[in-house]
Amino acid sequence: MSVATAKKPANPDPKHNLKSAREAYYEKIGKYDMAPLWEVLKGLVTKEPKTQCVPALWKFADAKRLVLEAGEVITAEEAERRVLVLENPALRGKSRITNSLFAGIQLILPGEVAPAHRHVSSAIRFVMDGEGAYTAVEGEKSMMAPGDFILTPNWAPHDHGNTSDKPMLWLDVLDMPTVNHFEASFAEHFDDAMQNTSRQDGDSLEFYGSGVLPDGAPTHLKRSPVINYTYARTRPILDRLNKAGEIDKSHGARVRYVNPVTGGWALPTMGAQLSLLPKGFKGEPYRSTDGTIFVCVEGGGTTKIGDETLEWGPNDVFVIPPWMRYQHNAPKESVLFSISDRPMQEALGIWREGK
Ligand SMILES: [Fe+2]
Repeated sequence: MSVATAKKPANPDPKHNLKSAREAYYEKIGKYDMAPLWEVLKGLVTKEPKTQCVPALWKFADAKRLVLEAGEVITAEEAERRVLVLENPALRGKSRITNSLFAGIQLILPGEVAPAHRHVSSAIRFVMDGEGAYTAVEGEKSMMAPGDFILTPNWAPHDHGNTSDKPMLWLDVLDMPTVNHFEASFAEHFDDAMQNTSRQDGDSLEFYGSGVLPDGAPTHLKRSPVINYTYARTRPILDRLNKAGEIDKSHGARVRYVNPVTGGWALPTMGAQLSLLPKGFKGEPYRSTDGTIFVCVEGGGTTKIGDETLEWGPNDVFVIPPWMRYQHNAPKESVLFSISDRPMQEALGIWREGK
């Protein structure tokens, strides 16, 4: 009589026995807050990025109409920030456009003030519509115009107000989901709705972004000292790049917004770029691990993502999930603003790009 015959189990189906033995074991270790890695390993260490996000586009006409309606039901002061969150359709209820970034459309009506506060989350504003409202950041009051790229770095006090006679709308992007992922959020409100401003409009750009520095200025900041990168100043640079033939096959003639003192990204958590797609541009396919938010600033065109094609015009916002291959087409000359979490990924050594 062999050993195997001697140990023959009561149930003749070995698979069934194994399954029930495992289940019993998982239940047992579960009581100790432990779980078997081998059951989930493939989903944790994937061969390629597996995104939860989907591509999506928000038409500016819809965003403007709907946020103006919000102006009828809540004041900027009551809301603190009157913002419609652009939620990725696959991440509804999570206040995010990608897993790492928040995006929203903010409205300030004539005469309104969005009161002063500060927080650990860094923010950017990309101005879409209106003229003559201001944002005050760290004592510099800056007038906003369409296409301006404005920074509110980590812990910088900021307030906004509209002294013009038109509604002012902009795109807000914050690294809030990432800060909250680390459970490292702090925020503070100030007694006065508006901070004292000691600097003139444009001071920080003149002081730190002009090839000179105030004597003794710090040279190791993790974030740019410039508050407002105006469209009036950045847009002509794209024309110069285009004329010089410096046109990337996937991205067009593109600049990145940097900390002029170090050459690094303007913020340590979010990287923004502005690109000109020449008339008739057919971009080569591209993908990278940073899910990217785009705004059409001028012109109009399409972006192909897998089997899907998004059609964009002025101020439309769209998002490309991480590692999804995309390709821009611009039948007319167009300008695209884009922003992603690339600086965070680069700092951690996990950023990758490909065709
Ligand atoms: Fe804020």
